[in-house]
Amino acid sequence: MENFHTILDNPEKDERLKLIAEEIKKCRKCALWETKMNYVPGEGSGYSGIVFVGEAPGREEDIQGRPFVGNAGKLLTELIEEKLGLHRSQVFITNVLKCRPPNNRDPLPEEIEACKPYLLKQLEILKPSTIVCLGRHSASLLFDHFGLNFLGITRVRGRPFEVAVEWGKVRLIAVYHPAAALYRPQLKEVLEKDFSKLGEFVMVKENKENKKSRGIRTKNKTLKDFFSEL
Ligand code: URA
Repeated sequence: MENFHTILDNPEKDERLKLIAEEIKKCRKCALWETKMNYVPGEGSGYSGIVFVGEAPGREEDIQGRPFVGNAGKLLTELIEEKLGLHRSQVFITNVLKCRPPNNRDPLPEEIEACKPYLLKQLEILKPSTIVCLGRHSASLLFDHFGLNFLGITRVRGRPFEVAVEWGKVRLIAVYHPAAALYRPQLKEVLEKDFSKLGEFVMVKENKENKKSRGIRTKNKTLKDFFSEL
């Protein structure tokens, strides 16, 4: 995987994201700091307006201090590139938990509670137009936070839910977790379809950065058009 962490979105945002990452790297709010190898704050940029939120770092992420760099990460990166026509540095990728739970066990409620302010702060800085929840833990937390009824990942996946936030409107979409899709071909098919639906209409923001980014698939529709047509 290319070692290409970020492209500049907005220097002020990038600086604030860096400060949060520094804060995360000193965190001792739950016991996970003792067993983790590295903190995994997240990486990428606000360039596309899309933020992906997974569950928690796994083994490879813990070793490298970067989100989604193991097998599930390879699948996520492929989906971002092939279905959305974006490089992973053009989206922001993070997790509900910034430290790996031992043996990849499920996050505990108190760990989620302790870590939640970091994710919310990242979202407030990035001000995304779209948040993609990867799997049930992320979806359950963010649906709850934004006042939506979480009926289970199977019931809500693939459908955008629009919520009003301080910085405008956000579309929240839950999809199956890429790790689950690795072991169940039927889930992988559904995950690919959900990404395709989104990707057909993704248009990278018309701004100066766009000119620098070669090979990005652009169409005449924006994400906003996509959701308003559903
Ligand atoms: N699974 C996650 O939820 N997050 C990662 O960063 C890697 C695997």
